[in-house]
Amino acid sequence: MAQLKTPAEIDEMRPAGAFIAHVLTSLRSVAAVGVSLRDLDAHAHGLIREAGAHSVYLGYHPSFGAIPYPGVLCTSVNDAALHGLPSDYVLRDGDVLSIDFAAQVEGWVADSALTFQVGTPSPEAARLIETTERALAAGIAAAQPGGRMGDISAAIGEVGRSAGYGINADFGGHGVGRTMHEEPHVPNLGRKGSGQRLKPGLVIAIEPWFMAGGDGYVMDPDGWTIRSADGSLAAHAEHTVAITPDGPVVLTERSA
Ligand code: MF3
Ligand code: CO
Repeated sequence: MAQLKTPAEIDEMRPAGAFIAHVLTSLRSVAAVGVSLRDLDAHAHGLIREAGAHSVYLGYHPSFGAIPYPGVLCTSVNDAALHGLPSDYVLRDGDVLSIDFAAQVEGWVADSALTFQVGTPSPEAARLIETTERALAAGIAAAQPGGRMGDISAAIGEVGRSAGYGINADFGGHGVGRTMHEEPHVPNLGRKGSGQRLKPGLVIAIEPWFMAGGDGYVMDPDGWTIRSADGSLAAHAEHTVAITPDGPVVLTERSA
């Protein structure tokens, strides 16, 4: 069962949310043609140290990972959708970069991701990214107390499917709290009115990821990087959201 947070605990999660938002904004400004994924990881690691925060990625070893996670960020480029390792790859003009970042601050975790283009933008990538963000917004809007988990899943799936994008429900959102991955699972496909009730105090990461082509994915030999099976572009967007009596509150909102 999902652990419900008190209003005071949700307030205590705000510094973690603000830190994650700040780091993602900073990474977005640093990412450019000629910068390596490892450089981005090092930049984030510096900000973690400076803030006295704690990485929840480094050394993380869930059942789906072949090796303990070697970075503080996920950096997924082009056909890579999720869990891209921060390698020596150097960003090129036109790359579609997704950055996923979670960390613990004052004992609480927040988790968020964004996707953007590096260098010259393409309209196809812009539409995919914009649709993924719209799905995240629709999922957040559906995260209402008294609603059901399926309301969030259906809202996300509908946006992706009506744009004609591939969706794979093997990976989705999750509860967030003292640790990064908690109950419940937040699927990116589902039926409105189905699933568990959304109660005030539930804190979840909502994270649609879509592929420009089909629904299939493949895992790299590195045991982490998840790519579209057909090589099509992928995009991912994520926020940590608290469900309150007044509705959803986004803890990882970026001002820029
Ligand atoms: N933050 C990712 C998520 O959204 C998980 C990354 S797994 C890690 O659920 F090992 F890279 F940390
Ligand atoms: Co997440």
